[in-house]
Amino acid sequence: MPIKFPFTKSKKQTLNRTLGLDYDHIPKHVAIIMDGNGRWAKNKGMPRIAGHKEGMSVVKRIVRHASDLGLHVLTLYAFSTENWKRPKNEVDFLMKLPVDFLGTYLPELIERNVQVQTIGDVSLLPPHTRKAINEAIEKTSKNNGLILNFALNYGSRFEMVHAVKEIAEKVEKGDISSDEVNEDLFSSHLYTSDLLEPDLLIRTSGEQRLSNFLLWQLAYSEFWFTEVFWPDFDESHFEKALCDYQNRKRRYGGI
Ligand code: FPP
Repeated sequence: MPIKFPFTKSKKQTLNRTLGLDYDHIPKHVAIIMDGNGRWAKNKGMPRIAGHKEGMSVVKRIVRHASDLGLHVLTLYAFSTENWKRPKNEVDFLMKLPVDFLGTYLPELIERNVQVQTIGDVSLLPPHTRKAINEAIEKTSKNNGLILNFALNYGSRFEMVHAVKEIAEKVEKGDISSDEVNEDLFSSHLYTSDLLEPDLLIRTSGEQRLSNFLLWQLAYSEFWFTEVFWPDFDESHFEKALCDYQNRKRRYGGI
């Protein structure tokens, strides 16, 4: 049966009426640090990778919901530049997740008009991971619905140093003068150059830090934390975060 999207207004209103989510003012860009997979698994006496597997199912549900709600961009921190330090079996498993995810879910993403993108240095991912991702990027490149943006081998400090190097080279070559270096130019050298900055950052599992994620881009974003481990995160938690966001006053340094 074909999937209908986005939900009609009446369907949306039945999703979480009690929270009072305003479906006409959904944040455009939400970024998520999906944390707590390992602890979720440990609490259940299972290996850490079982938590990542369950976490992948949650990714599917939240992507569906984000696309139904009409978000423009959902950025998910799937693998950081620091995650290579984990045991080999865990890294190998994490590198297989995009293959499994896209192997089963790509047709639905296409049907939902989702466009897959990545940020991070994907050139260092294993060939099978890169192949799955490149195929998804290619097959969804014409879609203009939700942008599903995976941060893979992503580190914000690396991203910024890389941007500085590129700009320094342009100055050295005389392509631009140092007077032309400003915030907009710097932003245009980041992986996120074509994206709006996140309105909202969600981090699960009770940790309250950025862990080298979008340090520049989150300068004016609202933060929302929950004790819930990522594998237990669901649509109602997501809507609660959006609802709380809608009740915040963003002042961008003004009054
Ligand atoms: C952090 O939890 C989570 C990760 C490093 C990996 C997140 C990946 C997924 C949720 C699946 C991604 C799916 C796709 C399709 C790419 P942790 O392992 O640090 O948990 P812990 O803090 O409890 O140990």
